[in-house]
Amino acid sequence: MPLIPKPFRALVIGSSGTIGSAFVELLENDPACLGVTGIHRNSDNPIDYQDLSTIESAAKALSDEAPFHLIINTIGILHSADWMPEKRLDDLNAEQLQMLIQINAIGPGLTIKYFSKLLDPNNSVMATLSAKVGSIEDNRLGGWYSYRASKAALNMLIKTASIEFSRTKPNTALVALHPGTVNSHLSKAFKGEQIGRPPLDAAQDMLNVLLSIDKEDSGSFLTYSSEKLPW
Ligand SMILES: NC(=O)c1ccc[n+]([C@@H]2O[C@H](COP(=O)([O-])OP(=O)(O)OC[C@H]3O[C@@H](n4cnc5c(N)ncnc54)[C@H](OP(=O)(O)O)[C@@H]3O)[C@@H](O)[C@H]2O)c1
Repeated sequence: MPLIPKPFRALVIGSSGTIGSAFVELLENDPACLGVTGIHRNSDNPIDYQDLSTIESAAKALSDEAPFHLIINTIGILHSADWMPEKRLDDLNAEQLQMLIQINAIGPGLTIKYFSKLLDPNNSVMATLSAKVGSIEDNRLGGWYSYRASKAALNMLIKTASIEFSRTKPNTALVALHPGTVNSHLSKAFKGEQIGRPPLDAAQDMLNVLLSIDKEDSGSFLTYSSEKLPW
């Protein structure tokens, strides 16, 4: 049985992003969604992974709006103005690896810690956007060292928290979600416009997956088409 009730209340973290804003738009137009709140680093109750203390303060500030039945965290980076994903081992550098681990793993991990307290303990889902390239088993092409490592670390944090939640919050599911290749700011430099799907299509598919998640799905790494990926 799906965990998310009807009607439900939702929170999108990273709502300024391409996929995050598509989720907000869909949820605003979903008659079963009683209300959706979006936050990002320049919103009210800002959340900025370069200042990790903002995670706890944003969660505390939103406690008046709790409980939420669905929380989707879409924050993530692949590249910056200073560097692109590594093509070879010689490109690996501490600054890039540290930054990606901070934004893609430490920030989302702490977000699960603080924001899971805002979930309805009776029936809720918290999804964090990961990426298929974070799958260790599925790694066939190599490259993209820091991004792969950061998403693999994120996946382990989600899986580990889901095991704890199966004891402490058995009616809350935690999942890692792969959106597929989406035409976005993040994918633009990697032919995202040519090979990526429109963000609203990807977000609609992911929303359908999230709305059908049951308890047994907690601790899964799911694609936008509900396929289970190997960790
Ligand atoms: N697009 C794809 O093809 C694809 C494929 C696989 C996985 N993903 C994953 O999907 C998620 C969303 O990606 P997207 O394509 O929507 O990318 P996007 O358009 O670049 O959005 C990224 C989001 O992350 C936020 N962000 C970046 N650095 C931050 C920081 N230090 N603190 C707080 N927020 C920060 C951005 O905020 P600002 O607006 O303030 O910059 C924005 O809200 C990411 O986790 C990504 O790894 C995407």
